[in-house]
Amino acid sequence: MKTMATAVARHRVSAFLSIFTVILTALYIVAIFPRKPHYSSHLPTSRPLGQGSRPTTSRAVVGNSEVPLLQTPSPVLPSPPVATRPIQFDAPAVPAELSGDYGLSDEQCDLYFPDLYQEIDRAASYARDHGNISTDDLDISWKKDGLVRAMIHDRKLYILNATYSGAGYNIRRSLAILGSINRAMVAYQGPIPDTEFTFSVNDIADPDHVGKPVWTFSRLAENEQQWLMPDFGYWSWELELVGEYEDVRSRIAAIEEPFLEKTAKALWRGAKNNDLRTDLLRVAEESGSQWGDIQEIKWASRTRISSHTKGNAIPIPEHCKYQYLIQTEGASYSGRGKYLQNCNSVVIIHKRRWIENYHHLLIADGPHQNFVEVERNFSDLPQTMHDLVVDPANAEKIANNSVKMFRDRYLTPAAQACYWRRLLSAWSEVSPKPELYDAGDVADQSKSLVDVDGGRKLRGIPYETYVLTAFDQSLNCGWFRRMFRRC
Ligand SMILES: *[C@@H]1O[C@H](CO)[C@@H](O)[C@H](O)[C@H]1NC(C)=O
Ligand SMILES: *[C@@H]1O[C@H](CO)[C@@H](O)[C@H](O)[C@H]1NC(C)=O
Ligand SMILES: *[C@@H]1O[C@H](CO)[C@@H](O)[C@H](O)[C@H]1NC(C)=O
Ligand SMILES: *[C@@H]1O[C@H](CO)[C@@H](O)[C@H](O)[C@H]1NC(C)=O
Repeated sequence: MKTMATAVARHRVSAFLSIFTVILTALYIVAIFPRKPHYSSHLPTSRPLGQGSRPTTSRAVVGNSEVPLLQTPSPVLPSPPVATRPIQFDAPAVPAELSGDYGLSDEQCDLYFPDLYQEIDRAASYARDHGNISTDDLDISWKKDGLVRAMIHDRKLYILNATYSGAGYNIRRSLAILGSINRAMVAYQGPIPDTEFTFSVNDIADPDHVGKPVWTFSRLAENEQQWLMPDFGYWSWELELVGEYEDVRSRIAAIEEPFLEKTAKALWRGAKNNDLRTDLLRVAEESGSQWGDIQEIKWASRTRISSHTKGNAIPIPEHCKYQYLIQTEGASYSGRGKYLQNCNSVVIIHKRRWIENYHHLLIADGPHQNFVEVERNFSDLPQTMHDLVVDPANAEKIANNSVKMFRDRYLTPAAQACYWRRLLSAWSEVSPKPELYDAGDVADQSKSLVDVDGGRKLRGIPYETYVLTAFDQSLNCGWFRRMFRRC
């Protein structure tokens, strides 16, 4: 009798435990369900080879931001950015020994890269027409993730504030941008203005349409107040398939073949994470075996490709073995484009919505054509490929124009450094001059960033120190918040 009672009691306890476990599990699932997996909310959505975010939700939250592109497809495309001044096609070639020089003089920057600065001039003129940049504009409380406030004072870079979440993905991008700015500054002999600025490292700088004049990798035509900067990939993309920018360029140079000897097909690898990529895969499936090598990549984590599509992955330099390379927008722009344009190949791009700092130099027709444009749904891609493949001399000419414009001129490391310095000087002319020391309340020593000279404290952390400490922030994510994907 007693044994039976014990058995019943045990049974009850175990039933209770099972129910309790089920409830706990359900609660946990409910708690994390609306969030994306931790890694995937920090994926480089503009990653060159495939996009990490899985199309798991219809909310289309990709990378760090909501993607208006996927939610409200605009029926009318804004006109793509075009050069507002005649492009100087006869500018002198950049001598090979200068193409990796981060410290060209202003005269050299103007001589070799005369058409590089259109986006800077446009944003500066927009700022002047709208009362210039105010101190309030430099506040970064308008977005909770992916903003950095920094300044240059007396040729030194300081980080004033930054908002990061997650396990360091935005910190990496920020360090790449800060490194690029610092490199362009220290390599240069001339004067650098004191200036204070903010930049965003998300694919979409302003998902809530706050309208701040922030520096960003990419913008829509309507984001006129935004200032475009070169993206983190010109520093390095810490993926095995990509890597440091100059290394990518030299690995490409080592295997580059004459155009006509390359595979006469169109190559694309990537994740199916937006409508236009789905369209590309569908068009390729229907007719692509003749003209294309178009394959999906699935990412298992931020840096790891799922095992069943691993065989499809191709390192960036190997892309150059194809005559035709397809470039697709991702969560917003796609950082892959500049790598493809480092190949002596024809880059095929659908009609674009997202603008990068050099996009006004893309020419879709005429004697200087340097890429091939197709519809956003790729409906004309099979016919376009047919036309290209039957006329290889024309295709080779487009590739030659691309190499001349992009690989050997505007996408050189030297050009990007010139762009950074021009951005700093144009911005400094329309924005407030920064103070080096904090003029505010110094009584609260616990808030002090750095103490110097008997109480005066620097407003920011010197770049040299910051690179050593930036990742400490991500260590503040405790197991509880991590479990509930709060950071
Ligand atoms: C904006 O900056 C420009 C260049 O420094 C200056 O000439 C202009 O007066 C400024 N405009 C306003 C409204 O402050
Ligand atoms: C940094 O930014 C955060 C979030 O916008 C803000 O709450 C904080 O006061 C800022 N810190 C400093 C030192 O400016
Ligand atoms: C593809 O886009 C073009 C241009 O917007 C349109 O005319 C065409 O109907 C579309 N095709 C499909 C299959 O959706
Ligand atoms: C493209 O450039 C290569 C190398 O400079 C040259 O040999 C070839 O003739 C050019 N082709 C065309 C069609 O201009």
